[in-house]
Amino acid sequence: MRNISVIGTGYVGLVTGTCLADMGNTVTCIDIDTAKIAKLQRGELPIYEPGLKELLERNIDAERLLFTTDYPAGLREAEIIFIAVNTPTTADGSADMQYVRAAATSIAAHLDHDAIIVNKSTMPVGSGDLVSDIISANLAYPNVQFAVVANPEFLAQGTAVADFQRPDRVVLGSADRDAASRVAELYLPLRAPIMLTDLYTAEMIKYASNAFLATKISFINEMARVCERLGADIKEVAAGMGYDHRIGKYHLEAGVGFGGSCFGKDVTALAHMASDAGLHPQMLHAVLEINHDQRALIVDKVQTLLGDLRGTTLGVLGLAFKPNTDDMRDAPAIDIIHALVAQGAQVQAYDPVARETGRAAIGDAGVSYCADAYAAATDADAVIIVTHWNEFKALSPAKLRAVMRRPVIVDGRNIYQPAAMAKAGFIYHGIGRGTPATDAANAATPARPVMQTRMARRPSVYAQPPRTLPKTR
Ligand SMILES: NC(=O)c1ccc[n+]([C@@H]2O[C@H](COP(=O)([O-])OP(=O)(O)OC[C@H]3O[C@@H](n4cnc5c(N)ncnc54)[C@H](O)[C@@H]3O)[C@@H](O)[C@H]2O)c1
Repeated sequence: MRNISVIGTGYVGLVTGTCLADMGNTVTCIDIDTAKIAKLQRGELPIYEPGLKELLERNIDAERLLFTTDYPAGLREAEIIFIAVNTPTTADGSADMQYVRAAATSIAAHLDHDAIIVNKSTMPVGSGDLVSDIISANLAYPNVQFAVVANPEFLAQGTAVADFQRPDRVVLGSADRDAASRVAELYLPLRAPIMLTDLYTAEMIKYASNAFLATKISFINEMARVCERLGADIKEVAAGMGYDHRIGKYHLEAGVGFGGSCFGKDVTALAHMASDAGLHPQMLHAVLEINHDQRALIVDKVQTLLGDLRGTTLGVLGLAFKPNTDDMRDAPAIDIIHALVAQGAQVQAYDPVARETGRAAIGDAGVSYCADAYAAATDADAVIIVTHWNEFKALSPAKLRAVMRRPVIVDGRNIYQPAAMAKAGFIYHGIGRGTPATDAANAATPARPVMQTRMARRPSVYAQPPRTLPKTR
């Protein structure tokens, strides 16, 4: 069992530290956020992540998991030091490395014994060298020997603990094979494939993986638009594609697009890296553009159904960027709600766990935050599904319809069956599920002039008249 330090107690650092402690290691987590560390020392979670609280309490009680803001105390006796700080996007699209630089500088200032530094944060290709250079240049104890290993993390929020404990693979990149092998030993109990590569390749595997997953989402969203125009159902199309093992069924869900702190940030940073290297990463740009437009598409759908949104009340179900998290970073709900409010709607929002983080990200102007889904739907002219929380799938259509002013649902996650919703008396629009039945909606509600969605960069594909299909012979 090893003595380990983890720097940064966010979604990745806290899950990494807690799970490594649960595997029997002694782990000290260091963060510069004093409020967060105080909470963790009391055994309280600063984030929502299923299964993490039990693990946290168990390992704090076993005295294998400690939290501190004090670098010297946190690094004492650490054989392996993980850097898991945030690497957000800068204005030019590159990864912001200021937190990594600061962490590396702090390690150098306090490391008084040999250790392996593991880059767990997602960092641009070449960052292993950068961290190595920073530590070498700032070592307070010049005789200290260290090696840097890139160990990108692939966990997903909402399933982070399970993903860490049962990874599809562990990637370790280093110029120092011995150091990489010693880090590999930590992961042996997980019985996952372990890949040893050079530094740059490990760093690139992370970016290429996220870019591919984001591409699948934008691809299926583009197919959804085609389906909508041609009268096909994207859910069936995706299911039919997903049976093909070369394609796979995951990340083929059409909807409001991806959000969160990783896909957008990492695709942007990868595009930036490629451009810097003299390339023209056109597919990466398309992935981002399609994703951006998906948010405007939802607002266009609401406008097409209701007309002028001034004076309307809209129920928004789901704020977090995905279910089972309270994380609002780049959540589609932020852009969608701001656009609806800008068009004059009053929004009644509900999320099972992201109520406070949602309010902090979206604000109170034109938005009220409700205690449950039915409250959000009460007197609403339309309900918009933004996050596919399981509890929304279990709502009673009859009860929903009874509380709403007009029976209109825009399902940004395709969680309901169109036929069932039509039977329940709703005017229902999903994403890419055949030609929308706007006639019924317009009959129910005389449309007022539609204003252009402010965040739309291009004319809405949705607002154009459906194409007439050529007759098949
Ligand atoms: N969130 C995910 O799902 C996910 C998945 C895989 C990889 N990643 C990558 O992991 C990294 C961390 O992501 P996250 O979501 O956990 O970030 P986060 O913002 O939730 O947490 C980062 C933590 O680092 C702390 N920190 C910043 N500078 C510090 C310093 N100098 N010393 C000590 N602590 C410091 C912050 O206070 C914060 O608590 C990022 O590079 C991200 O791209 C994230």
